[in-house]
Amino acid sequence: MGMKDFLTKTYNNILVSEVENEKGLKVCLIQINRPNAMNALNIELMGETADVLFAVDKDNSFGCSVITGNEKAFAAGADIKEMADANSVEIYYREMFASWDRIRNFKKPVIAAVSGFALGGGCELAMLCDMIVAAKSAKFGQPEVNLGVIPGAGGTQRLTRAVGKARAMEIILTGRMIEAEEMYMAGLLSKVSEDDKYLEDAIAIAKTICTKAPLAVQLGKESILRSFDTTIETGIEFERKNFYLLFGSEDKMEGMKAFI
Ligand code: CAA
Repeated sequence: MGMKDFLTKTYNNILVSEVENEKGLKVCLIQINRPNAMNALNIELMGETADVLFAVDKDNSFGCSVITGNEKAFAAGADIKEMADANSVEIYYREMFASWDRIRNFKKPVIAAVSGFALGGGCELAMLCDMIVAAKSAKFGQPEVNLGVIPGAGGTQRLTRAVGKARAMEIILTGRMIEAEEMYMAGLLSKVSEDDKYLEDAIAIAKTICTKAPLAVQLGKESILRSFDTTIETGIEFERKNFYLLFGSEDKMEGMKAFI
């Protein structure tokens, strides 16, 4: 895909647009668009999403992305119809999580703006994002146990790190649905918004991030993510190297001089 084409291209499963930002870089808005399937995440949809996020990462006029769904569903999981007939060898060779792994490694922040159902892979996609803003009436859950499986796109790891062992066990082993307010209290969400404000609020956070020094934003994200898989010693060392690295940026020179 040509670098600028990603905004004009037609996708089978998502809608892509740019949000202008008077005070900073632009925000890329990705809307999951399978309304007849509760936005179930098929492999093609995740590939399209990863392609767009890759293009955003490479485009200096963008600072941040927002992924959203529709009012009824952010996404009601991985596409069950796509997986129903597969045996373990077929699902292994299918590499259905390849695009998820790509998304994990992009540098610019991604915000999930959730309304309606964020279940199974939908909840996991929200957790793959760097933060989650949810409508009050949004419903989260990891119902895979009802299908005879477990979360497969990071749910047992990311949910546990966000809400702790006790809550993660209860959520994943019962498969029950959880209200936004409860997930906020548990630490999964950055913000709970009125039902008609969640997207606006997510975009507002994205726009604020887009006014900050891009390299500081990216190295901040990278350092926070590193905290999930290092010891505190190694993590602090990693943070410090990134801190030193930022002293080589123009934004640091300008920012500190301007303050003084
Ligand atoms: N995959 C494929 N299709 C789905 C889907 C999914 N995850 N979720 C909903 N749909 C489809 C339905 O089959 C239905 O299609 P048809 O009209 O062709 O029958 C359409 O979307 C509308 O759904 P419902 O009629 O079920 O809508 P509802 O309002 O009655 O219920 C719901 C909504 C509670 C979200 C219900 O659809 C549901 O329980 N969905 C499945 C949730 C789930 O189990 N998710 C986990 C998937 S496994 C996974 O994600 C693995 C992983 O970790 C990666």
